[in-house]
Amino acid sequence: KRKVILDCDPGHDDAMAMLMAIAAENIDLVAVTTSAGNQKPERTFANARKLLALAHREDIPVAMGAQRPLLRELIIAEDVHGKTGLDGADLPDPSVPPLSTSANDLIADILSKSTEPVTLVVTGPMTNAAIFLLSHPELKGKIAQISYMGGACFGGNITPQAEFNIYVDPEAAKIVVDSEIPTAMFGLDVTLKAQLFNEDIQYIETIGNPVAEVMANLLKFFNLTTTKPFLAAPDHVEGVHMHDPCAMAYIIDPSLFRIVSMHVDIDTDHGISAGSTVVDYDNVLGKSKNVDVAFEINLPKFRDLVFKSMAFYNKV
Ligand code: BDR
Ligand code: CA
Repeated sequence: KRKVILDCDPGHDDAMAMLMAIAAENIDLVAVTTSAGNQKPERTFANARKLLALAHREDIPVAMGAQRPLLRELIIAEDVHGKTGLDGADLPDPSVPPLSTSANDLIADILSKSTEPVTLVVTGPMTNAAIFLLSHPELKGKIAQISYMGGACFGGNITPQAEFNIYVDPEAAKIVVDSEIPTAMFGLDVTLKAQLFNEDIQYIETIGNPVAEVMANLLKFFNLTTTKPFLAAPDHVEGVHMHDPCAMAYIIDPSLFRIVSMHVDIDTDHGISAGSTVVDYDNVLGKSKNVDVAFEINLPKFRDLVFKSMAFYNKV
């Protein structure tokens, strides 16, 4: 089993990523840390704790991360994830008290005690990962890999050029991609292809356990609020985008994706492409290939993994 820490801002698709990690037989989810992003930090923290209560896995520690991005004001995505950050479903209240340990201390504690490198999956802005790398350079070698949802080779969703997670904290993202840690990027190029359609949501609902039921309700809400960029084509049916689950699915089954190593930099300026990932697709700069960038997903296999993950909770 591979030890994984999930750093997230739940968030509808973050919720799916977390539930998939718990269900995966080859993953040991050793901690969850929360970032400020989709909602304010206290909400994403509360949501992560509620999700673990739902999954009956409150033994997994949850720690709150930074209150805001490294240098910029926090921008949240309330229009997409609602007032709670997880609108659309009723989640149980946690039955264990909240940890007062910070995300940074929890990650440091786990890594320093672990005899094997630990994988970091980041599905929100990368503030916590960057703070950790800056404050604990001596533990860098204990990170096996960073798999993140963020950025895009082509296009954006919060500005024409920038994807939300990177846009919120570009300085943090730059620290991560420059870290020389093996890093895999699941940007909009691939995550917009990771779709669940109405019949998939209906199927998840019929699986018949409380986790799948909550997730189906979350997906219905998310389906209404997320952008449907191809709606202009009358015969095009666009599903709900499973951005964050891609970064986790890759750790569960890397064969789901077509990945190409490329040089990636981040625009930390304040111009019209602020917060964009500058992906050297044609290697025109000839710089080191610091990020494995995902472009294609095997959608039938991905959907099967989602369904299998949801069915796992029949046994819980
Ligand atoms: C990313 O932004 C958030 O709204 C989602 O949770 C995902 O991490 C997609 O751009
Ligand atoms: Ca997210």
